[in-house]
Amino acid sequence: MTKSMMILSTLEELRSARASLDEPVGLVPTMGYLHEGHLSLVRRAVEECASVVVSIFVNPTQFGPSEDLAAYPRDMDRDLRLLESLGVDLVWTPTPEIMYPNGYQTWVQVEALTDPLEGAMRPGHFRGVTTVVAKLFNSVQPAKAYFGQKDAQQVAVIRRMARDLNFPLEVVVCPTVREPNGLAMSSRNAYLDPGQRQAATVLYRALSAAKEAHEADERNAEALRTIMRETLAAEPLAEMQYVSCADYDTLEELDTVSGKALLSMAVFVGKTRLIDNMVLESKAVA
Ligand code: PAJ
Repeated sequence: MTKSMMILSTLEELRSARASLDEPVGLVPTMGYLHEGHLSLVRRAVEECASVVVSIFVNPTQFGPSEDLAAYPRDMDRDLRLLESLGVDLVWTPTPEIMYPNGYQTWVQVEALTDPLEGAMRPGHFRGVTTVVAKLFNSVQPAKAYFGQKDAQQVAVIRRMARDLNFPLEVVVCPTVREPNGLAMSSRNAYLDPGQRQAATVLYRALSAAKEAHEADERNAEALRTIMRETLAAEPLAEMQYVSCADYDTLEELDTVSGKALLSMAVFVGKTRLIDNMVLESKAVA
């Protein structure tokens, strides 16, 4: 008989249930409103771990004052059904009061890696992410934690935090899951109307065009950024916030692409802010 999935909210319940889980335990942190991107992480965790914990928590501290915290889409019943069907052992759904009780004042902050890109556009965002992820790591104590390449800087920042703070776990990075038309799956795609959803494929088209140029031996990073800017400019419903061609490890903007690099961008489609990225691997020099 298969065990039924536990759905818990308090830290005390989580701690006592955690003790009964078979090792190794895998953790998939989410903010809910699950789509195939999230589910790909969960499937991988179920494959690789004896027990899987999924957290669902719309973390208020990673949203800026003018961002979409109140409007962020939620559907807990559907999320729980999906997770149960995948064989998840435990879902932790803490409240903001459980995560940040009165008097809360401790923060985890990764420095230089959070300066550019999303960090520059969303001040305080990564401080909220690293703080909540550190709390999830300490509460669940997983052997492996699963994150999506969709949020490339988030992955870089969390790996850095895990190394710097000696978290005894492996950070597993899973590929970006896309719609058939290339649009990267995101809970925020729910904000798009049909015309905007079509326009939003421009992120994938712009990244693909730059990646193809790189494959055709374009090594000038500014030329790759120009290709992305020009593709985005041709889509009337899209408004570019930034495009980047950066070193994969440091996230510093490049002049010349030599090793591994990250193409990334943030684009508004209507009021919805979308991000996407692709990794460039440089061919071995013969
Ligand atoms: P959320 O946006 O819900 O995403 C949860 C996880 O799913 C993240 O690791 C994210 O990178 C991954 N993900 C989202 N879309 C994906 C896609 N199309 N393909 C592959 N993976 C995808 O990211 C967060 O929540 C939060 O910042 C969190 C880490 C939970 C901390 O609050």
